[in-house]
Amino acid sequence: MTVYFEFYKCRGIDYFKIGDDFLKILVVGSGGREHTLVWKLAQSSHVDEIYCAPGNPGIAEIATCVDINAENVAELVEFSREMKIDLTIVGPEVPLVLGIVDAFRDAKLRIIGPTKQAAELEGSKSYSKHFMNKYNIPTAKFDEINTLEKGKIALGNYSYPVVIKADGLAAGKGVFICNSLSEAEASLETIMKDNAFGDAGSKVVIEEFLEGIETSVLCFIDNNSIIPMVSSQDHKRILDGDKGPNTGGMGTYSPNYVYTKEIERQVEREILLPTLNGIKSEGMDYRGIIFIGLMITKEGPKVLEYNVRLGDPETQVVLPRLETDLVEIFNAMLENKLSKTKIDWNNKAVVCVVLASKGYPEKYEKGKVIEGIKNVDDDILVFHSGTAMKEGKIVTNGGRVLGVTARANTLKEAISKAYRNVEKVKFEGKVFRTDIAKK
Ligand SMILES: Nc1ncnc2c1ncn2[C@@H]1O[C@H](COP(=O)(O)OP(=O)(O)O)[C@@H](O)[C@H]1O
Ligand SMILES: [Mg+2]
Repeated sequence: MTVYFEFYKCRGIDYFKIGDDFLKILVVGSGGREHTLVWKLAQSSHVDEIYCAPGNPGIAEIATCVDINAENVAELVEFSREMKIDLTIVGPEVPLVLGIVDAFRDAKLRIIGPTKQAAELEGSKSYSKHFMNKYNIPTAKFDEINTLEKGKIALGNYSYPVVIKADGLAAGKGVFICNSLSEAEASLETIMKDNAFGDAGSKVVIEEFLEGIETSVLCFIDNNSIIPMVSSQDHKRILDGDKGPNTGGMGTYSPNYVYTKEIERQVEREILLPTLNGIKSEGMDYRGIIFIGLMITKEGPKVLEYNVRLGDPETQVVLPRLETDLVEIFNAMLENKLSKTKIDWNNKAVVCVVLASKGYPEKYEKGKVIEGIKNVDDDILVFHSGTAMKEGKIVTNGGRVLGVTARANTLKEAISKAYRNVEKVKFEGKVFRTDIAKK
């Protein structure tokens, strides 16, 4: 089949046709999410070369890694211009909030993601809360405060537990669920007096605690439409049974049985469409991914937060279910033609078990030799998160090290396949949850 359509013409970027040319792609980031993106993009019939900045040893097996930090926007622009990169996809939130999309477009380079203005939906929790209120998107009641004194007064409006959030990006560490006034005051002091998160804590959001089942929905979005992907579920806590401190995510599965057709329709009506409407009304240019954190409460689904990029490790279980060529989806997005694009998913169940370093999410050691990655079954995907190459060997280099990902016809099968293969990958201090997808 020859695919032949326009590659977007917006903002004076040259006419370009998929099918004429094979594309050079750049993926920005270095974790399991980016490894999954590169793996998926490598299957595209339109792609010739894939670069990843900075990438990791797993990514290096299927793409060319470039030694540029994901947050170094100027160098990424320079590299893309020199190498004539056709399309860039950004994994992490920091470069998006820094305005990488605007910088690339100014340089007439094609890139997927929200502009700096739209990225504020993740970059500032108070901004996103005001946005939700303005467009009648259900969310927890809140106060925005900018001094410790005002915070202590505002606490009087809440019962316990109460939720306290640093306004800016805090790498998943800026949210405190406080069970008493003294805990709440201590959290406010951590953020506003001890400046634990620097500038990200110059404002704080105090929020009503929502009870319910937490879930999230990943969507493709352009300036005309918002299209949910298949559902998935993360496991945030470090220990089995959802015990212990929060992490970046210890494992995922898809589809998520909590996310019924009924909830899906309600989320579409009450959350996705008003969100798209708000984005349009604010005049934002948002052609990328939006990832909505939800609490399914007794009163219906409410938004906990927006993320303006793919989730990690949700991506690891969602993209293996995508049948449509991802480059064609990105292309449609850039042309604001998502609504006219048929996006197909397979019926597989996918489970990803994260292998982490002992001690994570607190202090942990790095540099442990990893063995057995090549011994996993043929259809198992091992996505690298925190790994490095040292003297020709792959070693641990982060809290979350690898994601062992299994695909099967049923969830039960996928679970046992994933865990059978988790045993084959070995490193000193390997920890993982044994109950991923088992609830
Ligand atoms: N209003 C709330 N009620 C109950 N739990 C919440 C609330 N807000 C956040 N949480 C919990 O805290 C976690 C982190 O909050 P979130 O807003 O997603 O910030 P971030 O991901 O930036 O740390 C959520 O995944 C959820 O478990
Ligand atoms: Mg979150």
